[in-house]
Amino acid sequence: MSNVFYEPGEQRAAKVGSLFARIARHYDFLNDLQSFGLHRRWKQRVVKLAGVATGDRALDLCCGTGDLAFALARRGAETTGLDFSPEMLAVADRRNGKLKLPNLKFLQGDAQQLPFPDNSFTAVTIGYGLRNLTSWERGLEEMHRVARPGGRLIVLDFGKPANGLWRAIYFTHLKMSVPLLGWLFCGNASAYAYILESLKHYPAQLAVADKMRRLNLTDVRVINLLGGAMAINYGEKVR
Ligand SMILES: C[S@@+](CC[C@H](N)C(=O)[O-])C[C@H]1O[C@@H](n2cnc3c(N)ncnc32)[C@H](O)[C@@H]1O
Repeated sequence: MSNVFYEPGEQRAAKVGSLFARIARHYDFLNDLQSFGLHRRWKQRVVKLAGVATGDRALDLCCGTGDLAFALARRGAETTGLDFSPEMLAVADRRNGKLKLPNLKFLQGDAQQLPFPDNSFTAVTIGYGLRNLTSWERGLEEMHRVARPGGRLIVLDFGKPANGLWRAIYFTHLKMSVPLLGWLFCGNASAYAYILESLKHYPAQLAVADKMRRLNLTDVRVINLLGGAMAINYGEKVR
């Protein structure tokens, strides 16, 4: 299936923006369906690693409809969720309207050009966002810049399993079942075919860990989930 949403280079952001504008309304439902609800557990793990408490400042990039941002705010941190899609942020705002968390705000912006000074946040998270950036390396550099010394950087995203057989099964799932579910439940197969396409162009957990080391982060860890089909990258900014 040709993918209308993946585009290399400068056009990429516009394509990604139009994709999320189209699926925003169905995003949470499809997320639960495709991952059998497991994304919730993986996000809890991210929040635990973020280790924030009252008085801390947390930033969640590519926050989408806000899952990670809500969880960080519930732990008491002054939390900002940032995303460039007005449609995704509208869903997040609606959810916040119901929850009314006073320590949580959502902001429209580009994860590759953050409107914050250096050394601002105790924890900076990004869930299923890095893979979507025009430059994932630039995204990590920005996460590093705005983290405080000792601050934690945590990336959750699709991964590439090391085992060839498992990788083939998993890529087949992303190629066949995920677009099928997208088509059945939100009438849009190509938006969901984009996951595999974007993953092919994203070097995933090992390269992210390598970049974290090059940024001089300490305690760099890769936590493989489902045999590496998903991964959490963790690192701390030098004090
Ligand atoms: C797959 S969603 C992830 C949403 C949420 N973090 C989650 O885990 O459910 C990816 C999000 O990244 C956002 N995004 C993509 N490129 C971005 C950029 N350059 N700056 C800010 N947000 C971006 C999209 O608008 C979308 O909401």
